[in-house]
Amino acid sequence: MILGIETSCDETAAAVIKNGKEILSNVVASQIESHKRFGGVVPELASRHHVEQITIVIEEALREAGVPLTELDGIAVTEGPGLVGALLVGVNAAKALAFAHNIPLIPVHHIAGHIYANRLIAELKFPLLALVVSGGHTELVYMEKHGSFQVIGETLDDAAGEAYDKVARTLKLPYPGGPHIDRLAQEGNPVIDLPRAWLEEGSYDFSFSGLKSAVINTLHNAEQRGETIAREDLAASFQASVVEVLTQKTLRAAKEFQVHQVLLAGGVAANHGLRTALQEAFCILPEVELVIPPLKLCTDNAAMIAAAGTVLFEQGKRGKMDLNAYPGLDIESF
Ligand code: KG4
Ligand code: ZN
Repeated sequence: MILGIETSCDETAAAVIKNGKEILSNVVASQIESHKRFGGVVPELASRHHVEQITIVIEEALREAGVPLTELDGIAVTEGPGLVGALLVGVNAAKALAFAHNIPLIPVHHIAGHIYANRLIAELKFPLLALVVSGGHTELVYMEKHGSFQVIGETLDDAAGEAYDKVARTLKLPYPGGPHIDRLAQEGNPVIDLPRAWLEEGSYDFSFSGLKSAVINTLHNAEQRGETIAREDLAASFQASVVEVLTQKTLRAAKEFQVHQVLLAGGVAANHGLRTALQEAFCILPEVELVIPPLKLCTDNAAMIAAAGTVLFEQGKRGKMDLNAYPGLDIESF
């Protein structure tokens, strides 16, 4: 029985997981409404909200699960990466509970959490490949076994979610823009020619800043000429470019590394275009199982932290009372 705590960005979350797979509760208090008027997450505001919410959210998760603190085998908490002031709230709450009730503490990497969200819906089969696409990360991670993470490709500039949010801001859509672009894209057609950054041959790295600039330039050039561009078509064209690169690189890596499974992870995994494109692309590789979590497990939550925490707990990983928050924590060495 593991309690998970997640406060790395703008969601205060707590969850209780049984046997690594069964979600007994999964409480998420979103701060989006507070950050919206600033067009992005304000770190100081995020920390303050976490302080206000953390006790309530943890109590709610335990109450919903019907599990008293005395029945917990461990407390898993996100130690990084993320906003330092935000992470510290979760880390300190976890340490206080662990210390007061003598419960083992398990530090978890946020991206490992996103990947392990998949274990809540499927048995993991190694070796596997995870496509991690969130607001802060775009990575292809190869896993030979539980708890082993090798980054074979990553973004050289913007993360996929970041590109979505910036393009959305240019289109005057509210924060976070990903879901709005996704919705618009479904109403339009990808008729506008936009670049695809394949990078050098064989590379599994990504780059989205050139695409983002191309979208912004297309919009501004049209405005200067007094022309109007259908926002739906621009969104559809942008999404087509992001999705094609993500899908093709994932497919190529799955073949090269001969994996048994491909997992989709992170907030952008909620994207309808990406989900559909991956499902279609992987039809040609029936020996590879594609796992796509439900939307609720794609964006930040604590069930995923507890799921990763369970595996680490079984491997004997423990945090000490000097556990800190690590904003730039590396997944390969954590
Ligand atoms: O994983 P996440 O909840 O937080 C981070 O760890 O970053 O990801 C948030 C990101 C935001 O950039 C948001 O715009 C994006 O995920 N996102 C989407 C969709 N839903 C959320 N991007 C594209 N399409 C979506 N449907
Ligand atoms: Zn995340």
